[in-house]
Amino acid sequence: MNLKHFIYSLIGFVIVLSGCKEVEPKKELPIDVVDVADKQYDLLYDSIQSRIGEKFYIPRAIKNGSIKYARSYDWTSGFYSGSLWYLYELSKDAKWKTRALDYTERLDSVKHYRGNHDIGFMMESSFGNAMRNNPSARYDSIIVQSAKSLLTRFRPKAGIIQSWDKNKEWDCPVIIDNMMNLELLFHATKISGDSIYYNVAVAHADNTIENHFRADYSSYHVVDYDKETGDVIVKETHQGKAHESAWARGQSWGLYGFTVMYRETKDKKYLDQALKIATFLQNHPNLPSDLIPYWDYDAEPTPTTKRDASAAAIIASALLELQTYVSKEKSEAYLTWSKKILASLKSPAYLAKVGTNKGFILEHSVGTLPYKVEVDVPLNYADYYFLEALYRLRNLENRI
Ligand code: GLY
Repeated sequence: MNLKHFIYSLIGFVIVLSGCKEVEPKKELPIDVVDVADKQYDLLYDSIQSRIGEKFYIPRAIKNGSIKYARSYDWTSGFYSGSLWYLYELSKDAKWKTRALDYTERLDSVKHYRGNHDIGFMMESSFGNAMRNNPSARYDSIIVQSAKSLLTRFRPKAGIIQSWDKNKEWDCPVIIDNMMNLELLFHATKISGDSIYYNVAVAHADNTIENHFRADYSSYHVVDYDKETGDVIVKETHQGKAHESAWARGQSWGLYGFTVMYRETKDKKYLDQALKIATFLQNHPNLPSDLIPYWDYDAEPTPTTKRDASAAAIIASALLELQTYVSKEKSEAYLTWSKKILASLKSPAYLAKVGTNKGFILEHSVGTLPYKVEVDVPLNYADYYFLEALYRLRNLENRI
């Protein structure tokens, strides 16, 4: 066989061989979750336009098969516009910016709200996100005014911001969720140069470490203070299973809140607190294998016990920040944990099928189970922290 024939035979042999090659199973294309979110929020946006002009107009959840709306002064009011901002940043589609601006502006008057501690949630998720995309002196003054409103709830003797007004159960209650309002105060100090906001945030966080946490670093939901002496009266729950249980979303708020505290102060005690909360969550014997917690870590772990996708989304987002402050080994573990949560949330078990769920992105969250309010439903803040986590992950991966 001359060289030419040899080469032809070799080519033929290779062709036959490749013809025999096992056909690779067709791989499922990864879901483009931003595309799903875009389509869902288009659906949601279209269906809520008829509410404009009404007092209750912000989509919050689903109740009895219909969208449940919130008013501007609801603690969840900023999450819808915040999600629109994240959608804009994830997709770069200008329609989201137009819509985000509109729904952010509708909350302008909230800057004077003093009815409870939630103004931090409301204004940071709306105007706080708007400022990354559309900075303005007017927005700066809205943030500072909002922080001033929050300061009216500071009780100097107890060194805390009172969450809710006196009610029939508690005199001066502080809930762990309140850690999420502190970001507003740091923001106001940065804008105004006035350290009063910063100092109040630090006092509140220090007293929360002192009084809200158990030896295992789980937290109580409610701590009731005597606002004149600063003494703790009782430690109880409102949304958890029992006074001594670990209500899932409360633990997530603590993790996220102390991560923000470390970002803003660089005081290591806050990093330690966040790490200890993370350890409690990570090692919890009742944490299901998909890492989406039951609504309360002390709820009986059964196949029918409700999960809380919102608690999981908050953890996923918090970890993406926390992992930037720790050793390489811990950072990898936190990143893996966060990505695993996100993979679960992106799976059909939690991610709504396009055209369903009234346009909300995630299914299966729990608002307040003991009162049978918002049980196993979509919630606008589950969507918000999910989109925030996707946005943070995308930024992280673009940096790598
Ligand atoms: N701040 C109320 C909640 O987390 O349900």
